[in-house]
Amino acid sequence: MTEALMMDVARTKPHLPDAQTVTKVTHWTDRLFSFRVTRPASLRFRSGEFVMIGLLGDNGKPLLRAYSIASPSWDEELEFYSIKVPDGPLTSKLQHIQPGDEIILRPKPVGTLVHDALLPGSRIWFLATGTGIAPFASLMRDPETYDKYDQVIMMHTCREVAELEYGRQLVESLKDDPLIGEMVGDKLLYYPTTTREASPRMGRITENLTSGKVFADLGLAPMDPEEDRAMVCGSLAFNHDVKAVLEKFGLREGANSEPLEYVVEKAFVGDGI
Ligand SMILES: Cc1cc2nc3c(=O)[nH]c(=O)nc-3n(C[C@H](O)[C@H](O)[C@H](O)COP(=O)(O)OP(=O)(O)OC[C@H]3O[C@@H](n4cnc5c(N)ncnc54)[C@H](O)[C@@H]3O)c2cc1C
Ligand SMILES: NC(=O)c1ccc[n+]([C@@H]2O[C@H](COP(=O)([O-])OP(=O)(O)OC[C@H]3O[C@@H](n4cnc5c(N)ncnc54)[C@H](OP(=O)(O)O)[C@@H]3O)[C@@H](O)[C@H]2O)c1
Repeated sequence: MTEALMMDVARTKPHLPDAQTVTKVTHWTDRLFSFRVTRPASLRFRSGEFVMIGLLGDNGKPLLRAYSIASPSWDEELEFYSIKVPDGPLTSKLQHIQPGDEIILRPKPVGTLVHDALLPGSRIWFLATGTGIAPFASLMRDPETYDKYDQVIMMHTCREVAELEYGRQLVESLKDDPLIGEMVGDKLLYYPTTTREASPRMGRITENLTSGKVFADLGLAPMDPEEDRAMVCGSLAFNHDVKAVLEKFGLREGANSEPLEYVVEKAFVGDGI
């Protein structure tokens, strides 16, 4: 956005507390969109963390929700990837934002999907359903990911092909990224699947890990707690079931305070829309 447009916005709209200005909005499906906003100069975060963002509610009070930062920590702007919940208090409004609009962003990043919460290893698995890919959109663009691991496997599963598109384009863009393209090289293996609409690769992440299909398809050895690390982000049911699979492979759940072999974060609270 140009400086003139920024000043125009500042003149014509009342300022929100902790306001940031929307710079870009992309609608991926009728229930998914991503957007970019200006970054507060003081905001430092670790790739994979989340913040509280929102809008002013009808009662004039901030209406805030947790959102993973989808952009890497080096990016000048912040990116978010969002669901559109029909009648959702925040997203029924948020889905209509346009460049120049303001959102509220509380600059206090937190979260468990951070490199510090894992012991060193040679392969890292990013396991996500739906908008749970957001923290990995950040981590896949972070040089530290490729410094720390020889292989990075991004498994993303959605019901339909169109729901994979944000992640697919992001992975595709990494090859030519002037900043980290070379670091990514052949290290990043992308394994998108659908569960309802037919596509070249299908099946739940839990099934593809348990059956060994993903190892066979990618030519990898099965998971080994000495070598493998994992980060998980999806619905409560998904997180619960993946944890059981990872534990069977011998991986243990870690935290910032006690790094181990895998970490988990909810992509949203609730059982589904
Ligand atoms: C740690 C954390 C990180 C999060 N990061 C993101 C993110 O990066 N992107 C994002 O879109 N949401 C994220 N969420 C969910 C987000 O906080 C809101 O719930 C979401 O924006 C919907 O807000 P709402 O007020 O419209 O509806 P809410 O009242 O918050 O939710 C209504 C219902 O919609 C369903 N729902 C909410 N969010 C989702 C979702 N993402 N996918 C599928 N169903 C959902 C649930 O069933 C929920 O009960 C995160 C939640 C947590 C706890
Ligand atoms: N996605 C849509 O097109 C759509 C449209 C309208 C409304 N909704 C509603 O929105 C809510 C969220 O939908 P969503 O598609 O974002 O999320 P979701 O229902 O959590 O499904 C996302 C992906 O995760 C898989 N999954 C779900 N539970 C799992 C588990 N326990 N273990 C392993 N994999 C699991 C699903 O496979 P399965 O397909 O095998 O369950 C699907 O591929 C749902 O309540 C849904 O009714 C979705």
